[in-house]
Amino acid sequence: MDQKSSTEIKAWLEFYRELGIENFYRRTPVPKSETLRTPEASVESKSVPAPSLADQRATLESAPAPIQSPKFVMPTPKLSLFDPVAPAQARRENETLEQIREDLGDCQRCRLAKTRKTIVFGQGNPHAELVFVGEGPGADEDEQGLPFVGRAGKLLNRMIEFVGMKREDVYICNIVKCRPPLNRVPEKDEIEACSPFLFRQIASIKPRLVCCLGAPAVRTLLGIKEGITKIRGQFYDFAGTKALATVHPAYILRNAREEHILREDFEKIRDFLKAPLQEKP
Ligand code: URA
Repeated sequence: MDQKSSTEIKAWLEFYRELGIENFYRRTPVPKSETLRTPEASVESKSVPAPSLADQRATLESAPAPIQSPKFVMPTPKLSLFDPVAPAQARRENETLEQIREDLGDCQRCRLAKTRKTIVFGQGNPHAELVFVGEGPGADEDEQGLPFVGRAGKLLNRMIEFVGMKREDVYICNIVKCRPPLNRVPEKDEIEACSPFLFRQIASIKPRLVCCLGAPAVRTLLGIKEGITKIRGQFYDFAGTKALATVHPAYILRNAREEHILREDFEKIRDFLKAPLQEKP
């Protein structure tokens, strides 16, 4: 490496360290011969395979996720350490939801494409402070192309109003964008194919809080495998912002006596969003 690049990289490492980011990750390019052997290569394109969930988390966690407010604007780095080796699906700087949707296209990246009617990309405020991430579209969502419009959605709407917000204020999406047949839980390879787009959506929106609805969302975003009832109601660090885990509204529809869980967790969401933004020291 020449002297100039080495000095530049040192300066950037220093910059990230000052932001409290200590661990860096560099994706190794996959040789072309290997990508051609993967089954996805024929369907998807010539690009490298989708990064694993651990890779995606590492990428997001080691890149600064700017939180913008009137008070504090984190400087946007001009150079990303990851760009030279980033696969097609990886996060790009400052992209819009429209650009991500366009990139998703008429997605055929996993088997769910064969049985879905509509891609359910996500809905809501592109600058939302609060993002909800559910599991996957059901029959109503598949029909209408919008997330959480069925019974679970009605309950989610009620909870959003309960904390004094409107559905249009927040952004709602899922870990997969196509309905799994018979509403089964999305499978690992389906989540791996789809979640790079979810990570990019969150990076584009830059919310103050991401609310994971149910265990599959918690596993995908936070990598936590413990039971949802154990880890719910708590805040976690997520890609330079915060995430809260709670139960899926569909669980409450099946267990009405547990509605207090959602109330308690949504009160925490309300209090968190009411508190002023903390400036980083
Ligand atoms: N359940 C989900 O997880 N997502 C939806 O969009 C609808 C129901």
